[in-house]
Amino acid sequence: MNSSIGELKLEWAYEHMDVLRAVRERFRDEKPFDGLKIGMALHVEAKTGILALTLRDGGARVRLASCNPLSTDDSVVEALRFQGLQVFARKGESRKEYYENLHKVLEIEPDIIIDDGGDLTTLLHKDYTYIPILGGNEETTTGVLRLRVMEKKGVLRFPMFDVNDAKMKHLFDNRYGTGQSTLDGIMSATNLTIAGKTVVVAGYGWCGRGIAMRMRGMGANVIVTEVDAIKAIEARMDGFRVMRMIDAIREADFVITATGMKDVVREEHILAAKNGCILANSGHFDNEISKRDLERLSRRKRKVREYVEEYEIGEKKIYLLGDGRLINLVAGQGHPVEIMDMSFAIQALTAEYIAKNHRHLENKVYPVPTEIDYYVARLKLKAMGIEIDALTEEQRKYLEEWEEGT
Ligand code: ADE
Repeated sequence: MNSSIGELKLEWAYEHMDVLRAVRERFRDEKPFDGLKIGMALHVEAKTGILALTLRDGGARVRLASCNPLSTDDSVVEALRFQGLQVFARKGESRKEYYENLHKVLEIEPDIIIDDGGDLTTLLHKDYTYIPILGGNEETTTGVLRLRVMEKKGVLRFPMFDVNDAKMKHLFDNRYGTGQSTLDGIMSATNLTIAGKTVVVAGYGWCGRGIAMRMRGMGANVIVTEVDAIKAIEARMDGFRVMRMIDAIREADFVITATGMKDVVREEHILAAKNGCILANSGHFDNEISKRDLERLSRRKRKVREYVEEYEIGEKKIYLLGDGRLINLVAGQGHPVEIMDMSFAIQALTAEYIAKNHRHLENKVYPVPTEIDYYVARLKLKAMGIEIDALTEEQRKYLEEWEEGT
């Protein structure tokens, strides 16, 4: 029997996820989640499917919904359901359906949650306060920002792990993952040239850095906008022009937001943009580019390609990609497989850590334990066939000394 498209995508991802495969093999033997239920809200595509199957192989009962209405790969949903996984997601689902699907995940009263962006966590603090969660993980910068606010306000009611800030996550996923997948999404949505164009990147966090680096690699003239003085200097010293958005957008052929902040491109910027300017977002929520202002300022709007909306504003045309939702998943294929391999191995191992250690955890935001970061790093090096040096005994002792200088 021929495999379906979704099955082939899962197979391809599995073959290229060496780290998660090693974790999955151990989970099959050790069953760390025996008797536990795991609720997940992540972008539902092939790599995520492998994570869900890994957790199930570890003994968990798993339910999966999407963390974004436009990022689901329906062929993968079908293939996962065929394998008996309970998945609630559809590409293009309405806001109502999106929330209904999150509710379906919470109906099983999960013990552990894996969230991306914080919507599942928020529901657990509003409508499902009776579910005794052992702990959870958060995948992304935006979700971690929300968690920190909850912790500061004293409302966080279970332990959450900040997966985003694990080294083996953000150094690769946010930088190289977002860099490559944003380029992928913009190129597939527009089929336009990057070389020679002026690309404005809003935000010089790890995602912005990755995007700026890859856009430069494609021959773009990159301008960075920032609100953080230190990051602005880093961008300058990395060789980029740094400006205010209001100045940068006058030159921009493309503007790409990756800030985690709302209204980064708003009325005054839209009015200053030049004719033909293309706006795209790679941040978690669709509020970085003000769709409200675009709607209000335009006299006509039409879809000119799949994922490209044209707004006529005065004498000019401005384009919005992917409805302002993260372009790397809406029009692209998400982060490369080997990158999500590392991020999802961190997710799986941190979930295992919760299963084993929840009794000792408080209602706080925790960093991922360093041992997990290094465990994933060692598995990844092995998969890459790279051997590295180790300190000698003498060198190790040197680290303990302070008296001796030259
Ligand atoms: N694929 C699955 N989850 C993803 C994420 N958070 N970012 C990019 N690609 C992904």
